[in-house]
Amino acid sequence: METVITLPALAQDTLQGLSANPKFLLPRYFYDDNGSKIFQDIMEMPEYYLTRCETEIFSIHQKELAERFSYEKEEFDLIEFGSGDGSKTKILLHQLLEQNIKFRFIPIDISASANKELASVLGSELPDLNIEPQTGDYFEIMQDMTRYFSRRKVILFLGSNIGNFSQSEIASFLRRLEMITNPGDQVLIGFDLKKSPELIIQAYDDPHGHTRRFNLNLLHRLNRELGADFDTSKFVHHTTYSPVSGNVKSFLVSLTNQVVSIPLLEKEFRFKAWEALFMERSRKFDLTAIEHLALKFGFHVVRHFSDQKQFFADSLWIKK
Ligand code: AVJ
Repeated sequence: METVITLPALAQDTLQGLSANPKFLLPRYFYDDNGSKIFQDIMEMPEYYLTRCETEIFSIHQKELAERFSYEKEEFDLIEFGSGDGSKTKILLHQLLEQNIKFRFIPIDISASANKELASVLGSELPDLNIEPQTGDYFEIMQDMTRYFSRRKVILFLGSNIGNFSQSEIASFLRRLEMITNPGDQVLIGFDLKKSPELIIQAYDDPHGHTRRFNLNLLHRLNRELGADFDTSKFVHHTTYSPVSGNVKSFLVSLTNQVVSIPLLEKEFRFKAWEALFMERSRKFDLTAIEHLALKFGFHVVRHFSDQKQFFADSLWIKK
């Protein structure tokens, strides 16, 4: 009898990515424990403006956001995809509780440890909060969202996480949002905006080397979890920004001809000298592009909330 062994998702996606031309890895795998720590370092560096801008947006607009969420005082589920450490969302949660608004908070994150940490921090800081964390891939959890169907929903997808998606991934994400929402449900999506290319490049090609470490960490993870033998000294980190598409792209470029073997996949992968491994896209948007997306997937734009410098926008949509 033939036994079919199914590989874990990380192994499957690595096999697919390293067999492709050009080679790629998926940014969702950056966030193991070490990668999550490096991402904290990225968020704290002065060049990475995104998190500070979005925090500013929440500080300035918390009252209006809470009022719009609680529309007609009806109870609702506040669902957050990719909640991470929840530091920005906390501002909204405080405000909602202060206004005595009735809601249940459902943070969804792929990292079980991030979720546990979040639940314990919020539990002690906001004892009145009704919280129901869920661990998993948000694409999969969305399939299974029917149990929240009857209640009004406000869905948060913050931090420009949507920037990691290709155009077709954006379409399938928004199509699913369209499927799981009812008329009157709202979504708040964080988009990083087009701005000075210099500033954008500095945020993703920083002088501290945090972004470089963040990328190389995924190779270390493959060494650890799949038994790969990547020599990280044989790759350089390279970042590009195209002001037309708005795409920042991150690559690890092979310095030499080399072979990487991955015993768990029973495979060897050849890199030519100067061959690029595509690691991540971080797309920048303009308001017109955002409005097109909303309309195309059945939403009205209620309002774009922005920071003083207009570097970032949290766009509030309502289902038609
Ligand atoms: C978490 C996807 C929003 O693209 O800005 C930061 C990840 N990558 N620096 C982003 C990231 C390199 C970040 N997101």
